Amino acid sequence: MQLIKVEDKLSGSKEGLKIIESAIKAQKVSTLGLATGSTPETLYAEFIKSDIDTSEITTVNLDEYVGLAADDPNSYHYYMNDLLFSKKKFKESYLPDGLAKDAEAECNRYEAILNEHPVDIQILGIGTNGHIGFNEPGTSFDSLTHKVLLTESTREANKIYFEKEEDVPTHAYSMGIKSILNAKKIILLAFGKSKAEAIKATVNGPITEDCPASALQNHPDVTIIVDNEAASLL
Ligand code: F6R
Repeated sequence: MQLIKVEDKLSGSKEGLKIIESAIKAQKVSTLGLATGSTPETLYAEFIKSDIDTSEITTVNLDEYVGLAADDPNSYHYYMNDLLFSKKKFKESYLPDGLAKDAEAECNRYEAILNEHPVDIQILGIGTNGHIGFNEPGTSFDSLTHKVLLTESTREANKIYFEKEEDVPTHAYSMGIKSILNAKKIILLAFGKSKAEAIKATVNGPITEDCPASALQNHPDVTIIVDNEAASLL
């Protein structure tokens, strides 16, 4: 694991974009794996400002809430369109379908997309409990795309985006740990004090399903970009 310590979210996002840009310029990126949440917002804002040509790049996202339509403002489809896809042209973009009728078929469909478009660089955020994607503690390291029951802590953390607490979905589709680790290169971003424990467990802790992100220690090319607060327990 390579650790890059930065002053703040903006410099961390610029660092992340630099890595992505040089890989794109070296023609090493056909497929870019994307995340949602507050962490990559600045990265996407910087991406939009850049002149990086992404018109030949396919994107795949980590996850989507079950039950939300693509045009629902709380869906990850909406987030991605709003923050990136409406402003930067990509070849094609994939996310799980929150309205899929058959969960198993949807997971298989998404995993087939990942097989067809192997991820060259995967952007990750991290939950305060160490989750990556929506792979909560206890998720098997062998997991592929699956339907997840969200933990109370994750629903609690995400309720700021919803009008009422009961509107926060209970389930999501998420790439599994194994699907995430299939990426050739992984860039994990973490900013703020609330991520310090999770970063400590990810970097220094034992490799255990209790901390899903600790699986990244098994991957040959992971860069973790952290601000001083997220790095404060290292
Ligand atoms: C989002 C995702 C999640 C988030 C994590 C951190 O696609 O997969 O794992 O990266 O919950 O969320 P934020 O960035 O909002 O702190």
